[in-house]
Amino acid sequence: MSKDKISAPKGVPDYIPPVSAEFIAVRDAFAHQARLAGYEHIELPVFEETALFARGVGESTDVVSKEMYTFEDRGGRSATLRPEGTAGVMRAVIEHNLDRGQLPVKLNYYGPFFRYERPQAGRYRQLQQVGVEAIGVDDPALDAEVIALADRCFRSIGLKGFRLELTSLGDHTCRPQYREKLQEFLFKLPLDEETRRRAEINPLRVLDDKREEVREMTADAPLMIDHLSDQAREHFETVTGLLDDLGVQYVINPRMVRGLDYYTKTTFEFVHDGLGAQSGIGGGGRYDGLMAQLGGQELSGIGFGLGVDRALLALQAEQRTVTDGSRVDAFGVAMGAPAKAAMVKLIDALRAAGIRADMSYGDRGLKGAMKGADRAGARFALVLGDRELEQQTVMLKDLRSHEQQEVSIDSLVRTIAEQL
Ligand code: HAM
Repeated sequence: MSKDKISAPKGVPDYIPPVSAEFIAVRDAFAHQARLAGYEHIELPVFEETALFARGVGESTDVVSKEMYTFEDRGGRSATLRPEGTAGVMRAVIEHNLDRGQLPVKLNYYGPFFRYERPQAGRYRQLQQVGVEAIGVDDPALDAEVIALADRCFRSIGLKGFRLELTSLGDHTCRPQYREKLQEFLFKLPLDEETRRRAEINPLRVLDDKREEVREMTADAPLMIDHLSDQAREHFETVTGLLDDLGVQYVINPRMVRGLDYYTKTTFEFVHDGLGAQSGIGGGGRYDGLMAQLGGQELSGIGFGLGVDRALLALQAEQRTVTDGSRVDAFGVAMGAPAKAAMVKLIDALRAAGIRADMSYGDRGLKGAMKGADRAGARFALVLGDRELEQQTVMLKDLRSHEQQEVSIDSLVRTIAEQL
């Protein structure tokens, strides 16, 4: 059998220490903000029936037509690794009748999602999101809450160099007419065949074309935001007014195109300038027809997905960290077998008191063991040898101030707890 080393699949990041601590801290900070706003956790399946995404996300999207990890299970059913979370949340809400209770249903989720994209910096095939969905009430105040919550999530980890882009994609009363108007405009242009086909299937996406010549040709294209129905316009103006009241800054980007088909009315994206091409650190919007599309009631919803991987890259770009890089607070160094046996108990007592603690294993000698304390980022080293053991004391070294004191074994936990 070949003994070649095996690497992680292409485009799939490993989060190893110390970055893994940053990863957890960012994810938990986002989830914490969601909980503060009354969102409850929902644990979703990592794979679903393929039809859910085809119907929910839209057959014409890249996500569904090109990027899904779809496989046949051993029972011959078509299953797909979730490329996003909104469709799964909606499926669970309908299946468990959550929409028959108090509205809006406010749910929070996090975890890995899978898209077979071309890997590059910040674009992964296994990506991590924290998301929220507020389902069942079509109230612009809820749009403002969701957007302000995303903004707060990013601020809570110290990010500064991002902006919020906002637009309205209209509703069923104005979007079909606008679509026709846009197509009329696009069909007059000398577009290449593929772009023309895109204009037929999803004309909005042509406005998002990054090629200079297409940009020039579509510079005067009609924009949805100028063709909103009175109701959709009023909804959008209320949202922006509330964001102004909340002090959440935004820019209107009428050419914003999201990669998923379910969006209506308010749509938004958070963009970070330090990330290069993959600058979207989070996005979301309202989705009027999704629940009915999936066999549920005619209820609207709004939500977001924040990219944890990209938030981490954005932190790195801003040279910020959210953790102090330490693995433990206290690190035990025991010389000799009786001291080691006593240290095992001491470390256990520290952990029981909620203090992060570890100790040196193997026969490393004092110098090597002290290096271990340093590497662990410990604030305190506890040194225990025959002499200390005899006196029932521990040498407590503060690795920050370099002060040391002899502390009785009985009072060690208290002494450390007081100084942390
Ligand atoms: P999305 O814009 O497709 O929206 O993804 C949300 C965020 O996930 C993006 O802004 C980005 O930060 C991150 N992301 C997406 N793809 C990748 C990738 N290949 N590598 C790294 N990060 C990525 C959604 O998924 C919607 N479900 C959000 C939503 C919730 N809308 C309403 N409710």
